[in-house]
Amino acid sequence: MDYQRFVDEQIAELCRSVGGATAINALSGGVDSSVVTVLGHRALGDRLRTFFVDDALMREGEPKRVVGRFAKMGITVEVVDARKEFLGALKGLTDPEEKRNAVTDAFYSKVFGRLVKETGAKFLLHGTILTDIEETVAGIKRQHNILEQLGIDTEEAYGYGVLEPLKTLRKDGVRKVARLLGLPPEVCERMPFPGPGLATRIVGEVTEDRLRTVRAATAIVEEELADSGAFQYMAVLLSDLATGIRDNKREFAQIIVVRCVDSVDARTATAVRLPWEKLERICSRITEIEGVNRCLYDLTPKPPATIEYV
Ligand code: XMP
Repeated sequence: MDYQRFVDEQIAELCRSVGGATAINALSGGVDSSVVTVLGHRALGDRLRTFFVDDALMREGEPKRVVGRFAKMGITVEVVDARKEFLGALKGLTDPEEKRNAVTDAFYSKVFGRLVKETGAKFLLHGTILTDIEETVAGIKRQHNILEQLGIDTEEAYGYGVLEPLKTLRKDGVRKVARLLGLPPEVCERMPFPGPGLATRIVGEVTEDRLRTVRAATAIVEEELADSGAFQYMAVLLSDLATGIRDNKREFAQIIVVRCVDSVDARTATAVRLPWEKLERICSRITEIEGVNRCLYDLTPKPPATIEYV
C-alpha cells in the first residue's frame, strides 16, 4: 500500500467533506486519535478544534502529558472536564455492554453534543479503524466508537456527521501513517489503549475507588513492562474478592490480573512468556496496593479470550 497516497487522499477527502464548516475531534493521545488530529489539522487548520476529554477513565497524568506533546507540534488541545458525567453514567452498571453503552452515550450524546453546540461544528473526526468495525459487525464486541455501521445515523441522533479517515486501516497501517506524518516515536509506537479507558479494565462496577486501584496497578505494570516489547500490557481489576493475610489477620481483598500480549493487529493475541522474576516483582508491587491481596498472570490467547476484560 502507498501510505503517502493514503495521506494525500484523506487530507483531500477531509477538505471536501467539511467544506467551509468547523469540525471537532477528541484526542486521547493514542496513535489512532493522534493521526486523525494531525491529518485533520493539515486539512482544516484552525477550523478543526481538538479536545482532550477527561472522562475519569484515563491513566495517571494523561491530560497534561497529551496537551504538552501536541503543543510541541504546534497543535492546541483543549481539555474538557467530563469526569462527573462519565462516573454518573457508569454508576451501578456491571454488565460489559451496558458499560460500553454508557460510555458511548456520555461521549457522543452528552459531551460531544455540548461541544458541537458550543463550537458550531458540523463534523466530528474520529479515529475508528477497520478492526473496530469488523469485530463490532461480527458481533464479537461492540467497540465504543462504532455507530454508523450499526445503523445509527449520527446526524439524526446527535446532530453532527462523523468522518472516519482511518476506517480502512488496521493498527499496523495506522502506525506507518503516524511515522510518515512525523509523529514522535512515543506516539507511533504507543501501545493501544481502549477508548472507554480503564472502564474496560474493571470487571463489575466502575467507581472512583476502584478506578484508583486499577490506575495504581496500571502505573506499576506499564513501568515494569515498558521494555517488554509486547503489543499491549495492562492491569485488570476483578469483581471477586479473595481471602488473604495481612498483619497476621485474615483479610478479604481484591484481585488484580496482569495481561501482557503479543499481536500484530489485535485480531488474535498470545500471552508473552515473561521472565518469572519480572512476574514476581510485579506481583509484589501490586499486592502492596491498598485493598489488593492477590495478583494473577493471564495466559489466555485471543481467541477464546479478548484482549480486554470488558
Ligand atoms: P479486544 O479486547 O476486543 O481488543 O480483544 C482489541 C483491541 O482494541 C482495543 N479496544 C478498544 N479500543 N474502543 C477502542 O478504541 C473500544 O471500545 C475498545 N475495546 C478494546 C483493545 O485495547 C485492544 O488493543
